[in-house]
Amino acid sequence: MLPISMTTPPSKPPSKPKNPELSSNRKNYSNLFQPYLSFHHPGTCLPLAILLLHIFLLLSARSLPFFPTSHPSKILFPPSTTVTPGHSATLDVDGSNQTALNLNVLCPYGKVYVYDLPSFFNHELLKNCHELSPWNSGCDLFSNHGFGKVANGISKLVPENLRHAWHWTDQFALEILHHNRMMNYRCRSLEPESATAFYIPFYAGLAVGKYLWYNHTFEDRDRYCEMMLDWVNNQPYWNRSHGWDHFITMGRITWDFRRIEGRVWGSSCIYMPGMRNITRLLIERNPWDYFDVGVPYPTGFHPSTASDVMGWQDFVRQHQRKTLYCFAGGTRGFYRNDFRGLLLSQCYNNSDACRVVDCTGSKCSNGTSAILESFLDSDFCLQPRGDSFTRRSIFDCMVAGSIPVFFWRRTAYMQYAWFLPSQPDSYSVFIHRGEVQNGTTSIRAVLESISKEKVKMMREKVIEYLPRIVYAKPNEGLEGIKDAFDIAVEGVLRRVKQKEGVYK
Ligand SMILES: *[C@@H]1O[C@H](CO)[C@@H](O)[C@H](O)[C@H]1NC(C)=O
Ligand SMILES: *[C@@H]1O[C@H](CO)[C@@H](O)[C@H](O)[C@H]1NC(C)=O
Ligand SMILES: *[C@@H]1O[C@H](CO)[C@@H](O)[C@H](O)[C@H]1NC(C)=O
Ligand SMILES: *[C@@H]1O[C@H](CO)[C@@H](O)[C@H](O)[C@H]1NC(C)=O
Ligand SMILES: *[C@@H]1O[C@H](CO)[C@@H](O)[C@H](O)[C@H]1NC(C)=O
Ligand SMILES: *[C@@H]1O[C@H](CO)[C@@H](O)[C@H](O)[C@H]1NC(C)=O
Ligand SMILES: *[C@@H]1O[C@H](CO)[C@@H](O)[C@H](O)[C@H]1NC(C)=O
Repeated sequence: MLPISMTTPPSKPPSKPKNPELSSNRKNYSNLFQPYLSFHHPGTCLPLAILLLHIFLLLSARSLPFFPTSHPSKILFPPSTTVTPGHSATLDVDGSNQTALNLNVLCPYGKVYVYDLPSFFNHELLKNCHELSPWNSGCDLFSNHGFGKVANGISKLVPENLRHAWHWTDQFALEILHHNRMMNYRCRSLEPESATAFYIPFYAGLAVGKYLWYNHTFEDRDRYCEMMLDWVNNQPYWNRSHGWDHFITMGRITWDFRRIEGRVWGSSCIYMPGMRNITRLLIERNPWDYFDVGVPYPTGFHPSTASDVMGWQDFVRQHQRKTLYCFAGGTRGFYRNDFRGLLLSQCYNNSDACRVVDCTGSKCSNGTSAILESFLDSDFCLQPRGDSFTRRSIFDCMVAGSIPVFFWRRTAYMQYAWFLPSQPDSYSVFIHRGEVQNGTTSIRAVLESISKEKVKMMREKVIEYLPRIVYAKPNEGLEGIKDAFDIAVEGVLRRVKQKEGVYK
């Protein structure tokens, strides 16, 4: 049985779920909190695709939790230090080969080979960080191995022993974070013949970032990707499966790589023939493309140890929340007839229950604690779509132990199935936007009607899944806990294993 996937949407969802234009203009800022700003561009409105329930169900069915235990973040294998690949084998008392057994338990889905791509495609881009953005230098943004500068501005909010874990991480830093982790991944193989999957460490988003605006040519935007595919498609192991066992991290939204005939936005990277069967890890996916996998946006929280994670979980669990709900966003362009404008004015009108973080101008752009503070202070946070369906704010909210309120299924449920609980109502609230627009539903009334016990249970679920949506600091990952990187790569390996023999 082949996946429901394709790089172009199937004829079933009749509308155009993948109009590049719907979305991308928002993702143009590189500052920490600029995702909260909205720059309205004419022509970005798009009639919403009708979401077919069966597609949603299929997507969720594929995402059964890997760990049926109540602690999804706990891993079932011993810490990697106990077995070093290549170690001399130790035979157990019963004569079984313990090394082989352990290796099998450590990497049940196989190993990843990391291509030794010319540095032109990764390190050199980073070295020339001042060229990465048309507006400001990427050198601070992507410093500290992609984590960005230490976030001193929030130190009064977080426990002293966890301050080191907070950085001003850029929302587009994922390619760097993933690459560094992959080089030290416990299931990395140095021998391609024994690998299950092949990782292409190309910084696709960084390479296109500065060419997305102004009058840069399509050639400018496509050049890096074309050259990368030229290189990869000529590797001896490419032909083993014509890309089905290859994957790449693209640290921007998928629409930035989906320029089609007649459109002007983005590169056409994903539509290039050589990309056809490569799995792409993206911060926003096209839900109708099997090869797009949605992974969490990087937040500012990067624990160094399992005890950092647990310390933070305890902190957000115990935090006094004085506000029912909050909404963080910029007001620019909001006072028009769009949904965010409506949420904003409703929030202002309910100021005894709702807290607005107004990010207009540069108020949230750096060194500010306002956003984390209001998420820590609120039971719920409103997460409408922006110019694209997803926002980094979803993860900022959940990391602070606040319960997200969604208005579009594509904002999270159809994006991050590997990382979030499979039951949407166990950790989030869904309110149909139409009912808010026509006044039949009051957000405040819905949230106030949820019992204290239910709120507590939902928050507990958010906290339980917190490790799965953060990117740990050590290149080796955390001992005993799987973070968003571990989940993503293991998910890719599982898929490749499942599809073995199908594509051949
Ligand atoms: C045990 O397994 C390892 C890993 O597969 C292998 O390298 C080693 O030769 C095996 N040793 C014995 C005694 O079978
Ligand atoms: C467009 O490109 C030309 C030539 O590359 C350049 O001189 C000009 O300044 C650009 N215009 C804008 C608005 O960026
Ligand atoms: C892969 O296969 C194609 C066609 O089957 C062939 O032209 C190409 O040379 C092969 N590439 C490698 C690296 O073997
Ligand atoms: C993608 O995989 C299919 C088999 O599933 C194969 O027929 C096709 O040639 C592959 N595409 C590329 C560009 O390798
Ligand atoms: C907010 O309150 C003002 C004044 O009471 C009212 O005119 C307006 O319609 C309200 N807005 C919303 C979105 O409820
Ligand atoms: C924030 O930006 C302002 C100017 O926009 C600058 O003066 C200030 O030093 C910055 N703060 C931090 C913490 O980077
Ligand atoms: C309000 O919108 C919802 C969802 O679109 C719809 O089901 C409902 O019939 C509408 N009610 C009224 C009174 O317009």
